[in-house]
Amino acid sequence: MDHSPHILIISYSLSGQTKNLLSALIAGLDSTGCHVHHERLQPVKPLRFPFGSVAKTVEMMLRTFMRQRLAIQPLTAQCDQEYDLVIIAGPTWSYQPSGPILAFLDRDGSRLLHHKAVIPLISCRGYWRMHLWGLKRLLKRYQAQPINAIIFSHPAKEPWRTLGVFFKLSGRYPEKMPLLKRHYHRYGHARKQLAKAEEFGRRIGAQLKAKQSLAHLDFHDPIALP
Ligand SMILES: Cc1cc2nc3c(=O)[nH]c(=O)nc-3n(C[C@H](O)[C@H](O)[C@H](O)COP(=O)(O)O)c2cc1C
Repeated sequence: MDHSPHILIISYSLSGQTKNLLSALIAGLDSTGCHVHHERLQPVKPLRFPFGSVAKTVEMMLRTFMRQRLAIQPLTAQCDQEYDLVIIAGPTWSYQPSGPILAFLDRDGSRLLHHKAVIPLISCRGYWRMHLWGLKRLLKRYQAQPINAIIFSHPAKEPWRTLGVFFKLSGRYPEKMPLLKRHYHRYGHARKQLAKAEEFGRRIGAQLKAKQSLAHLDFHDPIALP
């Protein structure tokens, strides 16, 4: 009989940052022999990245601040199997969980998360506390058990990080803009953060295999959260 831990990952990623972190995390989980089903949420009307203009970016920020849901396609049947752990992964949008994750929680939360151990994974430029707090509150509403959390923020310094993300979302190239390029070299997470995500995956896998509590793992790390 197969006693390997089974993990369900529910994710959304608009600009590829959560996706990159998850590829690394899953490589770490795989290396410990865990079985992973990765379900990528698909919006019914796919969003374009970048948004294309400053006006569209501001509009999106306002919509997301109001926690507007983004309707998603039905999930695959594999999500309804039994899992030892669910990881819910996605970006912070205006201090909140992203629209597809909110739509997932509304529609599928009570069915899939009831009494399940859940680790939220957040990719953000740097402002994640309200997101995590709100997400944990929603998880408790579905009687899920949020245990621990994994947060990765972009390593660029402020105020360049905020300006860089804003221009990137609106379709400009902050890495090439005269006033920004000296301070802002790259949008998103650094390579060493992906290595850290892989390490986190190995630690989660090892802990699950040893049937130890995931609450004791410490994911506060200066590489993940510079
Ligand atoms: C509409 C919108 C709003 C955002 N608001 C925040 C925010 O409030 N705090 C933050 O730290 N990052 C914010 N970001 C940046 C994203 O969280 C960050 O770029 C993340 O790495 C993107 O992940 P993804 O590529 O998986 O979508 C926002 C991005 C978008 C598109």
